[in-house]
Amino acid sequence: MSEVGDSGLSVYERLIGEDRVSGRLYTDPAVFEREMERIHHRGWMFVGHESEVAEPGEFVTRRLGRQPVLLTRDDTGVVRLWSNRCPHRGATVCALDQGQTRFFRCPYHAWTFDNAGALVALPGEEGFGPTFDRDMHGLAPVPRMDTYRGFVFGSWSHEGQTLLEHLGDARNLIDRACDVSPVGEISLRAGWLRHRIGANWKMAAENVCDFYHPPITHGSSGLMGGVPPGYFSDAYGGLTRDLGGGHGEVDYRHTEGGSQTGLGPHGFIFPNLFIEASSIFVIQPVSVGEMTHLQTPITWVGLPEEMQRPQSRRFAMAFGAAGVIEPDDAATWERMQLGLQAGEPEWVMLERGVQFDDTREGRALDEIVMRGFWRHYRSLMTDKAAVR
Ligand code: FES
Ligand code: FE
Repeated sequence: MSEVGDSGLSVYERLIGEDRVSGRLYTDPAVFEREMERIHHRGWMFVGHESEVAEPGEFVTRRLGRQPVLLTRDDTGVVRLWSNRCPHRGATVCALDQGQTRFFRCPYHAWTFDNAGALVALPGEEGFGPTFDRDMHGLAPVPRMDTYRGFVFGSWSHEGQTLLEHLGDARNLIDRACDVSPVGEISLRAGWLRHRIGANWKMAAENVCDFYHPPITHGSSGLMGGVPPGYFSDAYGGLTRDLGGGHGEVDYRHTEGGSQTGLGPHGFIFPNLFIEASSIFVIQPVSVGEMTHLQTPITWVGLPEEMQRPQSRRFAMAFGAAGVIEPDDAATWERMQLGLQAGEPEWVMLERGVQFDDTREGRALDEIVMRGFWRHYRSLMTDKAAVR
């Protein structure tokens, strides 16, 4: 893909219009490679939550972009984020999703690291000569890690926006999710559902604030009975809001049915975190046509059991392989991926509610958040300042 097209506009300015984007953005491996570098390597991404590693020695493994990482709490209680890559010859030092340990032992030549990342043992050390320095061969930290109210984010870039700058107005989504708890704290220790889905990661990102599809895609699920009649309509009064920076939300707090679909907010934090009322979703890109989708229910610390339980039930009913919601979405994204292989017609349309773009807020079924996502995406892919 050349950087500049015939028109003098960058390729991405031609492929991303105000109310439409080219289907090629979901299918072209060159686009995916650039996303990994410009978005998933340079920017901030959600990794996990401090509560997942509440005890010393606890760890979870994740992907940060495509790269494997290891989130640990060391024996002194400090949360750390490492490249899950042996400094010797590159094998992942931990193959488990989660656990608790004092040491990580590489399976290839048994270099062994403590949970603070230090190389503490290796066989045949004398063979490396007198200048070999263990201190130079510890696990490599991810260049930047920061947390906001227990949400852990990482970035492969040594410089750039601070986490708070990146979160911007989307901080409010995390605040509202935490403040359901009487002590302002959530816990994510129920374990994660993981689904490998044959679709581009951006389809899951765009779907977060797509309230146009639920009565259709999920019409047969029976879950529609759990929301008031007409909930997914323009007339009901729900709002959708572009929060800038690629973030966005759908907001029903002010409506009559506002409290019936879950206790927390419903919003997307660019590029990989979805706070879905009473659960957390994470999008991990795998390749241009494949992603892993992770989901876990939120436990609110100190919330009475009778308020927590219906939310846990809702999660169990909706998500997972036997859920009535998630498989509908995943199957639809895979159909989109298949359909877009056709190449023609070129455009994917995102024009619903375009008349409200100046205010960044429209009716719940409008595609305002998607357009905000793409404006931010375009700015990152072209290195030009964001439009807003
Ligand atoms: Fe890890 Fe050799 S690759 S010890
Ligand atoms: Fe859906």
